[in-house]
Amino acid sequence: MTTSLNTADLSSAQPMGLPAGFPDVAALAQLANQFFRAAPGGLPSGGGAGGVDPAAIVAANPGPVSPPTDLPGQGTAAAVQQGLPTGLPTGGVPAPGFDPFSPGIPSPTELTRAAPSIVSAASPSVPVGAGQRNPESFSSLPGFPNVAAPFAPVAPGDADLRKLLQPQAVLGGSQLPNALPGQSNSPFYFLDFAKPETTGTRVPGFEAEKVPATSPANVSFGGVGLLDAHLIRRDFPILNERVNGRPLIWLDNAATTQKPRQVIERLSYFYEHENSNIHRAAHELAARATDAYEAAREKVRGFLKAKSTNEIVFVRGATEAINLVAKSWGRQFIGKDDEIVVSNLEHHANIVPWQQLVAETGARLKVIPVDDNGQIRLDEYAKLLGPKTKLVSFTQVSNALGTVTPAHQMVALAHAVGARVLVDGAQAVSHMPVDVTSLDADWYVFSGHKVFGPTGIGVLYGKEDLLNETQPWQGGGNMIEDVTFEQTRYHKAPGRFEAGTGNIADAVGLGAAIDYVSAIGMEKIAAYEHSLLEYGTYLLKGINGLRIIGTAPEKAGVLSFVLDGHKTEDIGAALNREGIAVRSGHHCAQPILRRFGVEATVRPSLAFYNTCAELDALAAAVHRIRGSKATVQSLGVTS
Ligand code: ALA
Repeated sequence: MTTSLNTADLSSAQPMGLPAGFPDVAALAQLANQFFRAAPGGLPSGGGAGGVDPAAIVAANPGPVSPPTDLPGQGTAAAVQQGLPTGLPTGGVPAPGFDPFSPGIPSPTELTRAAPSIVSAASPSVPVGAGQRNPESFSSLPGFPNVAAPFAPVAPGDADLRKLLQPQAVLGGSQLPNALPGQSNSPFYFLDFAKPETTGTRVPGFEAEKVPATSPANVSFGGVGLLDAHLIRRDFPILNERVNGRPLIWLDNAATTQKPRQVIERLSYFYEHENSNIHRAAHELAARATDAYEAAREKVRGFLKAKSTNEIVFVRGATEAINLVAKSWGRQFIGKDDEIVVSNLEHHANIVPWQQLVAETGARLKVIPVDDNGQIRLDEYAKLLGPKTKLVSFTQVSNALGTVTPAHQMVALAHAVGARVLVDGAQAVSHMPVDVTSLDADWYVFSGHKVFGPTGIGVLYGKEDLLNETQPWQGGGNMIEDVTFEQTRYHKAPGRFEAGTGNIADAVGLGAAIDYVSAIGMEKIAAYEHSLLEYGTYLLKGINGLRIIGTAPEKAGVLSFVLDGHKTEDIGAALNREGIAVRSGHHCAQPILRRFGVEATVRPSLAFYNTCAELDALAAAVHRIRGSKATVQSLGVTS
């Protein structure tokens, strides 16, 4: 199909690499300048010398890059341990019986002591440009705000990563207020909800101040120091569990995160003191429950930096949010021959609903390729865009590889051709600050359970006008303004998308989880996890026969790997025998694993309560798994 653009007129102005039919360069530059001026840290007004050249957007892509190779002498975990403290980092209290290294099998530290020559030959340098931006990456290009990895990188250089990860700002006693703005002990919460039937009547004297505090206990997060994972761990009761006689090491955070006591207590409090249906009754408990639910919506709004609570729809999770968009907006606005663009990195939840829509409508699905590190090919992406593109839907962080995609640039490019954009934030929200207003995505989705909240609750953010022009997905109570047998008038957003009784208590629990991470600070969480990821990468890369899948310079929280001669499910089971929980399998992202020639990986995934000691235990266990197979093979016991 030809486009209405006169590409011949544009050809002299079209930068190399842009496809015929790509929109007018000047118009794109103008749009991009508007976008980046609006973004925090964006272009100065006037756009600088010439503003953003779309060629830069395309040239920004580093293109296929060979996976980083090991540095000389970096080969063993033993080398990594050079000079490192042998126990837990300062401030940590080992659980009774904690012994990540089985007797008789040398730990990395012991190997270090036994083999000083190896140590002295080893470069203590941190691989993969730890803490630094890849100078070739899109985020360092002139004209682009520094947005690809929105955390302050820690720059350990040759320094000991473990030292960086030690607590630096530990104070006794809580210095945090018990309630954050918008929390329940603020005055009666003003409901910004479209004409609820009634919100109940709060009687004076309800002791809202008894609502459990949802800030982290016993820790001050002021100042510039890194967070103290060992103090944070005290808020997570499940981390005291033992599995197979060992302390639980929870490295399955990409599948779900553990819950702090503050979230658990908030849920109990809801059921003990507030439980009622919402928006529907004149009584006290309806008022308490409605207040708590709508306060949670305000917390989500603040967390995402959305403009209005009308842009926040509670759903079951990221999967339901994407299905909602596909089956409401998609059925309304997508037609035959329209094009939907997704990336090769996507979770099945961001593939299957679009395939279903394509099958229904006769639209087409196109896929953005990734380079050999697992990063989006921006040049190829730009070639896929055109006047037929109606929707781009991509993840901000890959659940299988950990890649942090260049989301701001991708949104800007999609908008330049008039397409709508959905960003899947399921794996991003627990790792980095999110600002949907700056990102400018039309929709942003996430699941509460990935960010230390309950399961069964999630969020669809959508621009208010867009939500209001979109037909509802499900019909029922709560979403209507007026019903006759002849016709129904719907509420405006968010009510029009919240038919029936929602997951009230878990929305309140999600609000508590947001209070929790907000009190720590997402920047601080991102910086800590970044160092932890560098440390884990360094350890795993030292294991012979281990291949990390996903080596993009911009990564968050995921250490997917395969090990020569070992099935991923066997490694998962062997780690479980040592109390270490990881996911092994296809991670609901088969296309991206197949891109790297594998059907499954072992996937340790990180959260802010993980520690260097846990990564030491993981690396030691993988060493053992590797060694045990070799021993068994040499005895001819198994193949
Ligand atoms: N999406 C979740 C994962 O990546 C379940 O494991």
